Amino acid sequence: MAEAGSFAEKVKQQADIVRVVGEYVRLKKSGQNFTGLCPFHAEKSPSFAVHPTKQIYHCFGCGVGGDVFKFVMEMEKCAFPEAIRIVAEKCGISIPRPKERTPEEQKENQQRMVLVEMHREAQTFFVKQLEGTLEGKAARAYLEDRGLDKDVLARFGIGYAPSGGDLLLRHFKSKYAEKLLAESGLISRDQSGRLFDRFRRRITFPISNESGKIVAFGCRALGDDQPKYLNSPETPIYSKSNVLYHMDRAKEGIRRQDFAILVEGYMDAIAVARAGISNVVASCGTSLAEPQIKLLGRFTRRVVVNYDPDAAGQTATERSLVLLLEQDFEVRVLALPPVGNKKADPDLFIHEKGAEEYLKLLKEAPPYVDYLIARARQMDLTTGEGKLRAVNFLLPYVQKIPNRILRSEWATRIAQQLRLDEPVLRAALSKAASERRSEIKTQPELVGRAAKPVERRLIRMLAEAEGFRHELAQRLQNARLYHGLETEKIFAALVIASLAGQPLQATEVAAVLEERDRRLLFEILFEETNEPTWEEALSCIEALQNRQAERELAEVQRSIEASPSAPEMRGLLEKKQELMRRLAAAR
Ligand code: UTP
Ligand code: MN
Repeated sequence: MAEAGSFAEKVKQQADIVRVVGEYVRLKKSGQNFTGLCPFHAEKSPSFAVHPTKQIYHCFGCGVGGDVFKFVMEMEKCAFPEAIRIVAEKCGISIPRPKERTPEEQKENQQRMVLVEMHREAQTFFVKQLEGTLEGKAARAYLEDRGLDKDVLARFGIGYAPSGGDLLLRHFKSKYAEKLLAESGLISRDQSGRLFDRFRRRITFPISNESGKIVAFGCRALGDDQPKYLNSPETPIYSKSNVLYHMDRAKEGIRRQDFAILVEGYMDAIAVARAGISNVVASCGTSLAEPQIKLLGRFTRRVVVNYDPDAAGQTATERSLVLLLEQDFEVRVLALPPVGNKKADPDLFIHEKGAEEYLKLLKEAPPYVDYLIARARQMDLTTGEGKLRAVNFLLPYVQKIPNRILRSEWATRIAQQLRLDEPVLRAALSKAASERRSEIKTQPELVGRAAKPVERRLIRMLAEAEGFRHELAQRLQNARLYHGLETEKIFAALVIASLAGQPLQATEVAAVLEERDRRLLFEILFEETNEPTWEEALSCIEALQNRQAERELAEVQRSIEASPSAPEMRGLLEKKQELMRRLAAAR
């Protein structure tokens, strides 16, 4: 097993099972999962599934299943250490093998380490400038005016780059060679070759990579200086398209809640995170790049896009939509209403309306198709030409809906909303659909033992309902509700994991189960369900209580029929009455 802090664990956290399995099996998106033909037994229709967020695979046909390492071990017929190496390689995770590095690699690595160190020093320098200088005082006033207090400045490492032009340079100079200074992106070189500070008279926002190391800065002008934001250039440690602002702090929340909020700017991410919503990242700049989507995809496949409501933001939303849909993300769009007569980005909105109101709108954020229909309705629909434009605007997106029934529902909605002739729209849609690359998928059949829906549902909740799984586990355990069920062992393992307060690792729970129980657990984890609620949990508990009462009643009845002594009989009859009352009340 992958031990905490080990390289194996690091690989497991960073690896994408869909990508690794995808190199062996042709996978297709099917609902929340990916399916394909099982590589471990011969079959004609796909019953092999991969779960992108739980990072497990399972075959509903032959019953194999496990995590990414198990898959590679079975595929490659290799041992665990070799599987780690293969997975790391496929996912571009560098493997610690100091002896095998070439001298160039060692040099590059060394250089990257120095660049990271320089950014750490620059960060300390900028923060000191903000805290302790006269110029910094003016910057602090600006930040205060924008509602950023001391705590927030500290929490997000916000600093100040002074106007002098060579203060950071002088701070660095004795320590680093000129070439390295220029390569850091913190220091620039003019045409005559003279070095000077890249960032001057600007608020500095440190940009960290996913593991929390500062690799760049985004710097906002104090006044109306142009450009408004000046960012680090591409350097050996920073590539703009590979990094999402706030990812290092957001990833736990994203994994936990299984969705991310995507905003445009630093100030937006900060405002949302301050509102207690940690699963927010900023693309920094308007358009999202594919590597950024891949990065996000390692933690969730669900995104709420919350870009600025201006023209640039709308264009960016639509461009990002296409990319996200191509990567099989489930996308919702949060288009914030204006505040007064001002168009509101998340920062302004939360500042003016408060976190509660933002959270409310976030929860109500509609699926992307709704957003697009609303956009199409803003077009001129009075003429035939206008309608055609609106349909052409919508078609490419609707085409991307993988499910045929859903697609058809959307067609009806679009026709109604845009007052279009439905048959004409359907014809356009079905033509477009036939041009789609992906084929219609068949849902794998469930072949595991039958477990009652209530049990399945509760198992799923114990696995996923972060908000209340602890409480749920407690209740199930206290009332011994799962004792005697066919799924007893699965419940027991999940209850222990839930009470331990750890996020669920499916493969670790599975490790303590017998093969047939593991199989059933995986089957249940792959079922498509909606978000569980506490009310639902309570009704499931009630159902189990009733079943328990029924079992007890049957036992009491057996004892009564065995003609016990008179006092015993009295006790049994009382018990019978009580159980029957309980069952009657439940009906
Ligand atoms: P915005 O212009 O919406 O800035 O650009 P903002 O985040 O709302 O900033 P404030 O509230 O005016 O301070 C959104 C993002 O686009 C990038 C930045 O990452 C910014 O946060 N951007 C914008 C640049 O890189 N350069 C620019 O000149 C402008
Ligand atoms: Mn903005």
